[in-house]
Amino acid sequence: MQFTVAIDGPAAAGKGTISRAVADRFGLAHLDTGALYRAVGVKAAATGSDPVAAALSLTPEDLARADLRTLEAGQAASKVAVIPEVRQALLDYQRDFARRAGGAVLDGRDIGTVICPEAEVKLFVTASAEVRAHRRWLEVGGDAAQVLAEVRARDERDMTRADAPLKPAANAVQIDTSTMSIEEAVAAACAEVAARLPG
Ligand code: CDP
Ligand code: CDP
Repeated sequence: MQFTVAIDGPAAAGKGTISRAVADRFGLAHLDTGALYRAVGVKAAATGSDPVAAALSLTPEDLARADLRTLEAGQAASKVAVIPEVRQALLDYQRDFARRAGGAVLDGRDIGTVICPEAEVKLFVTASAEVRAHRRWLEVGGDAAQVLAEVRARDERDMTRADAPLKPAANAVQIDTSTMSIEEAVAAACAEVAARLPG
């Protein structure tokens, strides 16, 4: 069975949480594509190497680094993510994952628009910037105003870049999680997937 669930949206909207739950519920593989860009950004910064070279030489160890979820890694990711050659270097891996036998859930920014435009299910998960920044602040702590500024800066960079900007695919179902619990958001996503599952 080829069955792809594409889950896109801005920072801390709940994409990862929903994706893991959907994958678990329907027995699908899951790929957090943001982790690829985070690993490229962190590797390039740590080694002083060119981001394109870092993307072309990405290893499982790079993806297992403990520092990928920091605010700095998020900023580094969104800076290397504007480089078309970096996106190109990560493309085949994501496309192959999306069409693997048994089905897959991928979450990111451009899954429904660029990586897998033929995905059977496309969800665009959003929430207000304030709600998203508060969620991220609960995870990372520190200065709440700085976390909000970081989320806004990243959204701006992701939405205005020329190559694969963050935007809903034409046929994506939008889920605004601003006032939803995790359970409600997961249930809304699972209902969309269940309605389109073959058989
Ligand atoms: O993957 P993405 O950055 O879009 O978001 P996430 O990592 O899944 O979620 C960010 C944080 O918000 C996590 O700590 C979730 O537990 C939390 N969350 C929430 O409080 N309410 C929701 N409806 C969804 C996520
Ligand atoms: O979890 P959160 O939403 O905060 O970020 P992420 O999904 O880990 O993505 C980190 C950064 O990688 C994003 O801000 C984008 O700049 C970039 N990214 C991208 O360009 N395309 C993707 N498919 C996934 C992430």
